[in-house]
This record gives sequence, structure tokens and C-alpha cells, in this order.
Amino acid sequence: MKKKINIAIDGPAAAGKSTISRRVAKRMAYIYIDTGAMYRAVTLHAIRNGRGVIDQLDDLDIRFGTDGTSIYLNGEDVSADIRSQEVTNNVSEISSLAEVRQYLVSMQRKIAEDKGVVMDGRDIGTTVLPEAELKVYMKASPEIRAKRRLKEEKERGIDIDLKTLTDQIIRRDDLDMNREISPLVKAHDAVLLDTSHMSIPEVEEKIIRMAEDLLRED
Ligand code: DC
Repeated sequence: MKKKINIAIDGPAAAGKSTISRRVAKRMAYIYIDTGAMYRAVTLHAIRNGRGVIDQLDDLDIRFGTDGTSIYLNGEDVSADIRSQEVTNNVSEISSLAEVRQYLVSMQRKIAEDKGVVMDGRDIGTTVLPEAELKVYMKASPEIRAKRRLKEEKERGIDIDLKTLTDQIIRRDDLDMNREISPLVKAHDAVLLDTSHMSIPEVEEKIIRMAEDLLRED
């Protein structure tokens, strides 16, 4: 059987992880898993039904659509709802809860069991898949990340200004990097990629080349 590897992509908010991971997964015919979307789905569930639901996560059904972009919460397509400002503003707090992390991390590990997965998030290389064959930590300055996010939001028809987005990104970085459980940190064996001045195809190519090198070994 053809050898497969797992690829862990971590980094702060809006560093371009999902765009790159999706493209790399497509090129390699791997499964793409956006773990941020899973934390967002749990956050949406808690916003709608109250914080009490955090104690009953086993009842929750979170699934990805076959396109690798859609996410379903108890059968409902919530792909657009999880990107709302309300979810964005609450997701770091909900994702700092031990129950939430335990539940989602075990789901994520199960998905990656058979390899051939590109998974992006904050703790993939450190906690979820510490044995991943390729780990990448993507970073870019907050200003550049805010500008990229502004473009995306405009394309989605959302009216938001650069200052609000920059503040939001800095606040989320701070919460994600300083939480007690699995904070955002570069794994010691992750390759650091500063994408501030790199194009999407350049970053994609670099990761593909590293993956191909690993697949050629032994
Ligand atoms: O990747 P994103 O911006 O959609 O992620 C939303 C939030 O989810 C992020 O601010 C922190 C949390 N998250 C996490 O704690 N661990 C992950 N593996 C992925 C996301």
C-alpha cells in the first residue's frame, strides 16, 4: 500500500493555515481537518443552548462534509454560522475548557488514525498528533494577518474595519498562547514558516516538497 503521512499545521489566528492546508490536502489527495471549525461548532452550540451543554458533549454530533469545507452540527450545516463575530469572540474562552479539549482531541486523533490527514489548529503538533511525520508552524505579523482576514471578510460581504480585526487577532493570540491547557506554542520539531512575505502557492509548494521528501525516505 502507498505510504501515507500525517501533516500537522499550527499557528495563530488568520496565519493562512486553512487555505494552505486545504490546498496541500487536495494536491496529496489527503483528508483536510480544520480543528478550529470544531471548536467553533462547540462554541455555537454553547451560545445557542447555554453553557450547561458543555457537560453533555457526548450527545453532540460534529461531522465534516465530503468537500472538506462544510461542517455539520447535529445534522445542521453550520459552516457559515460558525464564522459569525459572536462565535469568533467567544471561541477562545470555550476552547480553553478541559472538557471541550478532551472531547475534541480524542475525535481528532481517531480521524487521523489511518494517516493521510492534513490537520490544522493550535495544538496539533504538540498534543493531538505529536507523532505526525511533518509539522509546520506558520506565523505572520498581526498587521498582515488582519489585512488578509479583512480581504476574506469583504469577499464574504461582511463589513468590518482593519482596526477591529487587528485588535481581535491580538486578543485571540493572547488567549490562545496563554491558556493553561495546550496553549499555542511551536512544537520543538516543527518547521517554522514566516509567511508574512510569501504567496499562497509559495507556502503550498514548500510544504509539498517537505512531504514528498518524507515520502521518498525508506
Ligand atoms: O483556526 P480558527 O481561528 O478558526 O480557531 C478558532 C479558535 O479555536 C482559536 O482561537 C482557538 C481554538 N482552537 C484551539 O484551541 N485548538 C485548535 N486545535 C484549533 C482551534
